[in-house]
Amino acid sequence: MNMSDIIYSRKSIRRFYQEKIDWEVIEEILQFANNLPMLVSGIKVEFKLVSNIETNQGFNGPFAIKAPYYICLSSEKTEDYLLNAGYIMQQLSLYIESKELGTCYLGAASPGFGLKSTMKFDYVIALAFGKSKEPLYRDSDSSLAKRLPENDLVVYKEEVSSDIHKLLEAARLAPSSYNNQPWRFVVYKNRIHIFTKKNPWFAKPLEKLKMLDMGIMLANMMIAAEELWIEVKLTKAEAIKNKVLPKNEYVLTALIDG
Ligand SMILES: Cc1cc2nc3c(=O)[nH]c(=O)nc-3n(C[C@H](O)[C@H](O)[C@H](O)COP(=O)(O)O)c2cc1C
Repeated sequence: MNMSDIIYSRKSIRRFYQEKIDWEVIEEILQFANNLPMLVSGIKVEFKLVSNIETNQGFNGPFAIKAPYYICLSSEKTEDYLLNAGYIMQQLSLYIESKELGTCYLGAASPGFGLKSTMKFDYVIALAFGKSKEPLYRDSDSSLAKRLPENDLVVYKEEVSSDIHKLLEAARLAPSSYNNQPWRFVVYKNRIHIFTKKNPWFAKPLEKLKMLDMGIMLANMMIAAEELWIEVKLTKAEAIKNKVLPKNEYVLTALIDG
């Protein structure tokens, strides 16, 4: 399966064989990681691969998922660095899944101080990966993924093409922390305005994960667009940016060519 097909059938994997993966495959993964298209060009990031097979290193504690490998992302903290981090991590996750390996984001666990101190920039998120003990994919019927229905997420202001429906479906199926699915969409013929649900004040610690989730969703949307040969430009509409909305916050707009 290619990365685009995987969007519709992948699931998080939490049970792994503590086994080595061929070095060539690891090399391909690292090469892919280091050549990923970014959402915000110019942000400096670093991927760090951690092998957890011979010695337990990296992620411990009650919320950690035991896996043979972790790939950690650290990033410069500039504007939209979390969106950018989610965007590149999701491409990497789909790529690893296309190698018939399982992945799971580690939002609830943190690397130990020792590991963190070896990172070039600020630690953002990690992905556990390896050979899976469970089936890697759901049935290709995407209704099996636990996601909010389109009606809860999308407001159509105009009629749109089937291609735009497909972009929104790829976005809807994205994984998110605690399966929160914070994305909301207002859709015109050639524009998708993208919003994120406001968290209540007591959920402010989840704010960081929420912007990662939004970046992850954008990666799904852009990969689906590429598969459909649709040109999409992501921009910020100043007029919407300045509006104060009761439940949602504006993130950006996808302009669709043609
Ligand atoms: C940013 C992020 C952080 C996550 N952190 C964890 C985690 O710490 N532990 C875990 O078991 N799952 C974690 N997940 C996986 C989500 O729980 C999962 O994606 C969601 O429930 C949807 O299920 P699915 O990925 O199987 O479709 C995380 C997902 C994302 C996107």
